[in-house]
Amino acid sequence: MQTRVLTVNPQHPEPEAIAEAAEILQSGGLVAFPTETVYGLGANASSANAVARIFEAKQRPLTDPIIVHIADFAALSAVAKTIPPSVEPLAKHFWPGALTLILERNDNIPPIVSANQATVAVRMPSHPVARALIQAADLPVAAPSANAFSRPSATMAAHVLQDLDGRIDAILDGGQTTIGVESTVLDLTGERPTILRPGGVALEALQTVLPAVTMRAKLVEMDALAQSPGQLIKHYSPRAKVLLFADETAIPALIKTARERTESRQSVGVIGLSAERPLFQALPIAFFDLGETLEGAARNLFAGLRALDALNVDVILAHGYSREGIGAAIWDRLLRAAEGHIQAG
Ligand code: TXA
Ligand code: MG
Repeated sequence: MQTRVLTVNPQHPEPEAIAEAAEILQSGGLVAFPTETVYGLGANASSANAVARIFEAKQRPLTDPIIVHIADFAALSAVAKTIPPSVEPLAKHFWPGALTLILERNDNIPPIVSANQATVAVRMPSHPVARALIQAADLPVAAPSANAFSRPSATMAAHVLQDLDGRIDAILDGGQTTIGVESTVLDLTGERPTILRPGGVALEALQTVLPAVTMRAKLVEMDALAQSPGQLIKHYSPRAKVLLFADETAIPALIKTARERTESRQSVGVIGLSAERPLFQALPIAFFDLGETLEGAARNLFAGLRALDALNVDVILAHGYSREGIGAAIWDRLLRAAEGHIQAG
């Protein structure tokens, strides 16, 4: 299969390209498209056959459920069976945006989308290209992140092509995504609204609208879990081994490890904030600059993991930052990339 690359203006996507991509979705094909978080790999969410192609293209296990994307609030009632009262204020504040809600699944959405669960994940993205595509297709669009299973998510069209060229019908290239980490997944089907995955909308922001929102206990325990290797599934993984150091206080340990590894002739990559670059000037390592701020770090994180991988480094050294705000999502992705291990230090 030849993957068509349709370049679009991210703010004002060309109607011809959008129409072409929408037709592909309507006829059961796969289209990758930018959202404000990461690129998604879209298919008609109402068609079990179309959705099956997503799992095949990504080599994603059928046990991993997919988010359904809508363009307006009216479309929600065709995706969810019931809409609990907390949805309205959340949607008012955070939609369109980087918030995914878990609700009861409407029968219109085939079970394959949700890995046979009775629930469904739904999100209204804000990216103009995503919105234009969903509107033109006039369908709910099932879309996981547009990377091969267990690889870092794609924040640029080039990343999508690295993993999926020849496996999908088309990609709308709308440049680099702005947030860079995936949406926050909030489960509204349990007793208490619970974050299953930290992401683009911070816990603190959700709590201003819904004070009861809590982080999933398993996520809170992840630091403890990190002491027992192999508990977390491999995810967001570059080919190189990721060594994660706890936080800024761990920088001396990180530098020491970088020195030891280069002395033993390993090729070492480091990802860090711009201000940290001078710390490594004396060492023969590849430094990937995440930018000045935590927002920049979120935006550039997956690109950094992919870029260092492309240099064929043996190890990638990283450390966590503040776990507040967007920091929680960055920490979560780094911990998973490191397969749940935190280095001592
Ligand atoms: O920002 C995003 O969320 C991106 C863009 C493309 O929208 N999408 C994305 O999809 O990250 P994916 O498939 O890579 O991650 C979806 C997450 C997974 O952790 C999945 O387990 C969870 O959402 N999820 C999906 N449906 C679910 C459900 N019914 N119940 C619980 N978790 C669900
Ligand atoms: Mg993903």
